[in-house]
Amino acid sequence: MENIWLNGEIVPLAEARIGVEDRGFQFADGIYEVIRLYSGKPFAMAAHLSRLERSAHGIQLPLPGGAGFLAAEIARFLERNPLRDGMIYLQVTRGDAPRNHAFPACKPTILFYTRTLPPLPDPEKSEGVALRSVIDERWRRCWIKSIALLPNVLAKNQALAAGADEAVFVENGIVSECAASNIFFIRNQRLITHPVGPKVLPGITREYLLRLAGQLAIKVEERGPTESEAVAADEMFITSSTREISWVKSWNGRAVGSGGAGPVTLKLHRALREAVERETGPI
Ligand code: PDD
Repeated sequence: MENIWLNGEIVPLAEARIGVEDRGFQFADGIYEVIRLYSGKPFAMAAHLSRLERSAHGIQLPLPGGAGFLAAEIARFLERNPLRDGMIYLQVTRGDAPRNHAFPACKPTILFYTRTLPPLPDPEKSEGVALRSVIDERWRRCWIKSIALLPNVLAKNQALAAGADEAVFVENGIVSECAASNIFFIRNQRLITHPVGPKVLPGITREYLLRLAGQLAIKVEERGPTESEAVAADEMFITSSTREISWVKSWNGRAVGSGGAGPVTLKLHRALREAVERETGPI
């Protein structure tokens, strides 16, 4: 039986109830996090909770108890509901109040639960992904991990309908990120990725990789490449908490790179795995 933590209570997921006027349901007025579990332990929990606090601040949403309270409650939940390989989905909405665009005086709705995910393959054996470029129609506060994901959902489905795996956003010819992942390019041994901000979520995996690149003496350029520069990259990969690193095999049906995970991609992926194991134990 799957359980959920909802506003301080741990209850069966199937019995959990949220009001029809919850602002998450009616306005997508909320924020979320997806945290990967390895060997039963959350990876990069502090970084995720600190991003949640920044997102909350970004939508003027008070977070009662803050990160400390949530970390303790997640630990309590995992003790009672252990899971080895999976993820934690954590969501906070402004709460349940009579429908009105104005901010209400109500308590936020906070919930989290876990989901099993298949163990990730060895970096050497991982599958490449096919990307489809879509016009970026999102708002200019993509640094907030908002539950208002309709443009991302439409983009992803546009990619799937075209036979691709993930959508990559392009605006005025500049490549920013994907529907549910950050994107990196390698050109002449340099790692290129768009800076975080209005059009790019500060991905936790992204942040880890940039730190690891520094340690591995890989030069980093934080800038948004043009689409024509991007498709000519030597290597390309996308990152997220749930996928770690996936190398890109094609862009709008055209092959990218050398037809496999490139050497810099693999080096970074191995370094990420080592960082995960240092934090959560052997995978
Ligand atoms: N998405 N950019 C977007 C738009 C994302 O939705 C995500 C993650 C990322 C990568 O962030 P991180 O490395 O912190 O997972 C970048 C999650 C996994 C999701 O929505 O399911």
